[in-house]
Amino acid sequence: MGHDFAPNRRSSRRDFLRWLAASPLLATIPGCAPAGPGSTPTGPTAAAPAPASAPPPPRPTLEDLVTSAADALDVFDMEKVAETTVPPAHFGYIQTGVDGEETQRNNRAALERMYVRARRLVDVSRIDTRVTLFDREWPTPIVIAPCGSQRGFHAEGELATARAAQAREHLQALSTVSSTGVEDVNEARGEPVWYQLYATSNWDVTQAVVERVRTAGCPVIVLTVDLPGGSNRLTLERWSRTDDRTCNSCHRPRGRAPSVKPMFQGTSYRAGDFRTPGMTWDFIGRLREITDQRIVVKGLMTHEDATLALDHGVDGIWVSNHGGRAEGSGQATIDALPEIASVTSGRVPVIVDGGFRRGSDIFKGIARGADAVAVGRPYLWGLGAFGQAGVERVLEILSDELRITMRLAGTPSLASILESSVGAE
Ligand code: FNR
Ligand code: LAC
Repeated sequence: MGHDFAPNRRSSRRDFLRWLAASPLLATIPGCAPAGPGSTPTGPTAAAPAPASAPPPPRPTLEDLVTSAADALDVFDMEKVAETTVPPAHFGYIQTGVDGEETQRNNRAALERMYVRARRLVDVSRIDTRVTLFDREWPTPIVIAPCGSQRGFHAEGELATARAAQAREHLQALSTVSSTGVEDVNEARGEPVWYQLYATSNWDVTQAVVERVRTAGCPVIVLTVDLPGGSNRLTLERWSRTDDRTCNSCHRPRGRAPSVKPMFQGTSYRAGDFRTPGMTWDFIGRLREITDQRIVVKGLMTHEDATLALDHGVDGIWVSNHGGRAEGSGQATIDALPEIASVTSGRVPVIVDGGFRRGSDIFKGIARGADAVAVGRPYLWGLGAFGQAGVERVLEILSDELRITMRLAGTPSLASILESSVGAE
């Protein structure tokens, strides 16, 4: 992804405000008249009626109502704003799933089929959302999933996300295909982030990247294993066709080589190395030989693979179908979670992601056996809409909603959220 930005496409908001300022409506609402000479309200009768032939006034759009991060009431408000602020091809990159997007839809549908079992008369005056992952305590189980190319959504990209993660104390995982190098992100975050590794098929590149993030102090490698080569992203392709700008790494003219991502710069990386169709479980052992960092495997969906992961000595499991943008299996992550949690039985931490959009969804993930729940698109919408403030607001919304859900469920701590705290239709 490159760093082109759409011109401000908030013209409908401007039109609406211009119409509102000129409208007799304002003069009829006490206290709402525009200030300044000649604008003194003189009562309803003073307002000239609009000519019968005047076109109906434009209705306020969400952009008119959500003009700052604080105005967003839920993460979907951010999505609508981001659609207008992020260049179309890059917005398509955020939104895309694969094929007909069945997997992405099922992630949501399965969460929506579940319900929270409301328990009464429990003391919920203190809600505790703390969780410990690898000896480090976090105030919240809501994790920032690794997502690439964030400068394609906002000029400050991963740095804005890192500052928001620091401000609200969330665990952040940084993508291998970030648009900012790990050292700068760690500095903005105030401590080393977890590092998501795309191994590549070139071992020299893998070694160089791992050495770099080890030196940078990242305590955990999150090895993503669900993208062995290619994904059929039709929504991305369609949105890209509506965008006539080019950028060097995604919607570039045919024949032009993509720019090399910061984390591959200075390595022997060549286009094509990104695919890893030959990678097998032996890779975990090879990784162990070159680093003492914790290893979390991201992208598991079955109990068979969870068992293999433990057999190969991984330190944690991240249940994921890549937000429905890598595989078209159709299976929702919340449905895969229980069989994986039953294999791990608390021996290693389990993180889940895919379609979590509300605090009640986070609650459902914890109830089905996750220690922590990660979000991808929601914080990217916040980033694209309002930069750091947008990411912070998304984290705040989800945290507040989680606390409300915990109160209604009579579960004052994460440990008190049980399998029986949820049901499914
Ligand atoms: C991703 N995801 C991802 N995963 C990963 O391991 N490395 C990466 O570089 C990326 N890049 C990326 C870019 C964008 C734009 C999106 C939306 C997602 C997947 C991400 O980590 C996570 O698994 C999903 O985003 C979770 O699903 P939701 O919350 O987006 O539904
Ligand atoms: C994606 C890759 C970069 O999902 O993980 O776009």
